[in-house]
Amino acid sequence: MLMHLLLFIALALTVFHFYIRYRRIGRLASAIPGPSPYPFIGNMLSFDISSPVSMWLVLRQLSNQYYPITRVWMTTEALYSVRHPDDVEIALTSRKTIDKGWVYKYLHPWLRTGLLTSSGEKWRHRRKILTPAFHFNILRKYMDITQEQGEKLIKFLQCDGKESVQSLIPFCSKFTLNIICGNPFVIKIFNIQQIKFCKSKSAMGVALDSLDTKTIEKYKQAIYKIGEITVYRMPRPYIHDWMLKLVPFLPINRHRKQALSILHEFTAKVLKERKEYHDRTGNKYLQDLTEEDKDGDDDVYMGCKKRLAMLDLLLSAEKDGLIDDEGIKEEVDTFTFEGHDTTGMAMTFILMLLAENKNAQDKARDEVNEMLKKNNGILGIAEVQELHYLERCIKESMRLYPPVPTIFRDVSEDLQLKHGLIPSGSCVVCHFYDLHRDPNFWDEPDKFDPDRFLLENSSKRHPFAYIPFSAGSRNCIGQKFALLELKSILGRILQNFYLEPVTRLADIKLIADLVLRPSEPVHLKFVKIEKNT
Ligand code: HEM
Repeated sequence: MLMHLLLFIALALTVFHFYIRYRRIGRLASAIPGPSPYPFIGNMLSFDISSPVSMWLVLRQLSNQYYPITRVWMTTEALYSVRHPDDVEIALTSRKTIDKGWVYKYLHPWLRTGLLTSSGEKWRHRRKILTPAFHFNILRKYMDITQEQGEKLIKFLQCDGKESVQSLIPFCSKFTLNIICGNPFVIKIFNIQQIKFCKSKSAMGVALDSLDTKTIEKYKQAIYKIGEITVYRMPRPYIHDWMLKLVPFLPINRHRKQALSILHEFTAKVLKERKEYHDRTGNKYLQDLTEEDKDGDDDVYMGCKKRLAMLDLLLSAEKDGLIDDEGIKEEVDTFTFEGHDTTGMAMTFILMLLAENKNAQDKARDEVNEMLKKNNGILGIAEVQELHYLERCIKESMRLYPPVPTIFRDVSEDLQLKHGLIPSGSCVVCHFYDLHRDPNFWDEPDKFDPDRFLLENSSKRHPFAYIPFSAGSRNCIGQKFALLELKSILGRILQNFYLEPVTRLADIKLIADLVLRPSEPVHLKFVKIEKNT
């Protein structure tokens, strides 16, 4: 009897194996190069997935080893890594790849189905109502907050005397977080009445008074935890949610629950504060947000001039019945994360690259100083737009260190690429880090050379050889804002400080995470520029 049962199981498994590998999807997958799979487990044992550092190397290996396209079996499903710009172009611009890959479902407990993670009609509708928030006239209004944070950042650094060494990741992300949330209410939720610089010093030599660094740190740590869990589950698709629910006491469940509660509490406070603000001001700032300020109206909320936050567009849409309370919550979570972590990491890598490339640093500073001289010391949105060399430095930095290094898309119908046919129902992965360093499209790809982005040097380049903000209809909605923000803050830093390397880029290890991160803290020295020299 037992023998019969074993024989039956063996037969069933064999039939299942042949079904997976030799039905049409399996045959198409076999036509694409990739490591040899084992029955059932596919290529799950082919790679070292023991840590985020080794996972990062696996992603790179997948994108390089079988260039230009690689197939890998994740148990019974095939995943395709595409690297050639021709294929990336088709993969990102086709209407068959609008939906995000299954990896994003690990983010659903946190972001639910906000703009980043939603699909189909819901995504289309949200994108339509959120797009006006990134119109240039509106971006100008967000710039007040950006400029104010830039000034605060300079004062913060100046408090440490002639020079200071900062741990860059928390340093950068704290400021980008304040910018994205809209400072007046971030000040309030963090209980910051005012940052009183230079009064007290923490163990790190940070000169802050009442800024609740702990709350920010808790929020950041919760993001790291969710990133860690996502990256852990990515190569282990056989761990299903229902399995985790069966054993609620597992550490992964506990950590996820704790992190989610911190993240949701944080954004709930942001939302509550902003709603109270509009209640107090009789919703007058939620009128037509795309209108120019006619009267230069000053809001006296917390003694600050009126400022527009991205959240206001959502609240205005809620008033018009276009989005409900749940919808707003998921977008607040989405934008708070996408809007600050990406720019924070971009800023970290740009500062490190400028510190190591002194000529580029000096040239960017000269450009800023020249602009300030021409405009009576003002560095507003118009001036920031004219900082062309600084913009090239930022672009080159995002080529070498794309803040979002990898994205995944679902293929809803068979997709013919130049280098292979991807069957319907598969997942495609684009790895920007190696796309941006492909020696077939970039001379000396590891060299920092901002002039690659001069028109004469870039006009003939494949448009999909460089896409730090992704491309096609699901590209980054915040890209113009991110560039303005980075130029505005970096311009102020360069005007006031020399940058000197402490941690060298060649010495860091990168990790697989939601955004590109070094595995260890990185440091940089800021040396004050004496104005009379
Ligand atoms: C240097 C900074 C930034 C980089 C490199 C970046 C990069 C990207 C990339 C590559 C995507 C596509 C993700 C995917 O397909 O999985 C994306 C999407 C998105 N980004 Fe950004 N981003 C940046 C800043 C921002 C900012 C400042 C905001 C908001 C204020 C933002 C909001 C979003 C949103 C909401 C999406 C989803 C768009 C959609 O699916 O329709 N990003 N970003």
